[in-house]
Amino acid sequence: MCGIIGYIGDKQAQPILLSSLSRLEYRGYDSCGIAVSSSGIEVYKDAVRVAELAKALLQLDGTVGIGHTRWATHGEPSQVNAHPHLDCNGNIAVVHNGIINNFQRLKRQLIGEGHNFVSETDTEVIPHLIEKHYDGNLEKAVEAALRDVEGSYAIIVLMAGEPKLVAARKDSPLIIGIGDRENFVASDVPAILDYTDRVIYLEDGDIGVVTPDSIKIRRHGKEVQREEHKISWSVEDAQKGGYEHFMLKEIREQPKVIRDTLGGWVSVAEPAVDLAVMRGGLESMLILACGSSYHAASIGKYIVEELLSIPVRAEPASEFNYFTWTLAKTGAIAITQSGETADTLKAIRRLKGVGCPVLAITNVVGSTASRIADQTIYTRAGPEISVAATKSFTAQLMVLYWLALSYSKVDIRRLADLIMGLRQLPGKVQQVLDNEDIILEYANYLSRYKDVFFIGRGINFPVALEGALKLKEISYIHAEGYAAGELKHGPFALLGSDTPVIAIVAQDNTREPMLTNIREVKARGSPLIAVAEEGDEAIKELADSVITVPRVDALFSPVVNTVALQLLAYYTAKYRGCPIDFPRNLAKSVTVE
Ligand code: F6R
Repeated sequence: MCGIIGYIGDKQAQPILLSSLSRLEYRGYDSCGIAVSSSGIEVYKDAVRVAELAKALLQLDGTVGIGHTRWATHGEPSQVNAHPHLDCNGNIAVVHNGIINNFQRLKRQLIGEGHNFVSETDTEVIPHLIEKHYDGNLEKAVEAALRDVEGSYAIIVLMAGEPKLVAARKDSPLIIGIGDRENFVASDVPAILDYTDRVIYLEDGDIGVVTPDSIKIRRHGKEVQREEHKISWSVEDAQKGGYEHFMLKEIREQPKVIRDTLGGWVSVAEPAVDLAVMRGGLESMLILACGSSYHAASIGKYIVEELLSIPVRAEPASEFNYFTWTLAKTGAIAITQSGETADTLKAIRRLKGVGCPVLAITNVVGSTASRIADQTIYTRAGPEISVAATKSFTAQLMVLYWLALSYSKVDIRRLADLIMGLRQLPGKVQQVLDNEDIILEYANYLSRYKDVFFIGRGINFPVALEGALKLKEISYIHAEGYAAGELKHGPFALLGSDTPVIAIVAQDNTREPMLTNIREVKARGSPLIAVAEEGDEAIKELADSVITVPRVDALFSPVVNTVALQLLAYYTAKYRGCPIDFPRNLAKSVTVE
């Protein structure tokens, strides 16, 4: 949720912290701050974006410091609630990502012991606990403080007069970047890509002690070794590259992302992983995820059921965690771009706890999901910076298609056609992207409305959900995704000339009932935009406007349809002047339940 960075080395810390924070803003952006240490600790923070903080900031002298960009959970976005937080004497500064569940009890206790608190945050208990336990050894004080704490955290601690950073994690991501006479600590890879591509992923319970030329990791009081990884993402991957927004860049990258993700596999005869559930060793499949990844999971249900004929349930991980769960002989797939979504991680742990094998599909090498699942397949989407998921969603679909095709039970001719269709998808997506002028026109039209319905059927029902999610999160237009056949069971009451409906029309057995639904909508006076395949002449007669997408097998229609809806959402938000990459109240990585 929040982004954190620490620097220690031979350079001035301030410019490095600010530049890294600007790369981390997608993790949270309601306030930010830095602390730099030389003779004492100087803190500068406010409820502003990083660029404004940088403008207002005087030069803070020092070669060690920490920074934070916040997504508020406890206490409104304000200067006093922004991180870093300090102990009573201003000697210990802490940045934190996560939630301290028992902070109220700890705070009462610490106040009783004479500590003064200034903020409403849960984080503030941490510097006070460290202060309380400090007897000359900072890492031991951090270790002791964290024993008191319940909840999730990735923290970096800075203490006046101590030329080191102390970092610790539990259920929130944290990496150490290895430089030359300098080292970094960060919540996420893009923060340090300008400086190094060598990283160590801390594990839950690790405490890292970082100086300019040493990294020591302790666990339960003993030193442990952690493997070094090389990051394949380039700095350019994590930059806008001339685009006005990351979202548009990421939408346009999708042909390449599809090629890269599929490129890892040579033939369907060599499945990417050996999955008992796909081989028929288990009886059913569960696919879990949140948000857009859940929509990919829901499309995955249709793909796997059609190609493998096994029952599949797709569930939002946040709901699954509270089910009384009775399915035996199930294999699970957890889908998460970041690999750090709290609800998805909780679901993986729960499944593993009852002996259910879990495959993670994630975009982030070394992420928590990849480490706790039994097996992992990486999407090759590259860093996704815009808060709204686009290319990661498409890459997730590619993995699901490939997996299902690898184990498919369809006859050999259909299999060959589908593989060919999959290989043609980059070109098909490119055609959608090349058709954006017409989408721009409809976006302009849509931008004037307050409420929009997206309707789909079958494998395109989750596409309607995804189209509505994209539109609402970045344009702030109220949008609902609906199963087209359900509209008459209530939502019809809302239809009229001020409620446009976007209908996704696929060339499968849902087409005829969808045409009926479109007629019903038109009869209620709603403007209707159809997303339909080129050559579908009947639709042109029925709909007010049509966004045409290239012809593909109906199984792949979610890919081209979703890309068209991503563009529609993007340009609608642009017409409305919204902060597209950083929508209000949202964060890229949701590491709290
Ligand atoms: C929407 C969006 C979110 C994420 C969700 C899950 O555009 O990006 O709904 O899909 O927060 O995130 P991951 O995939 O990282 O688990």
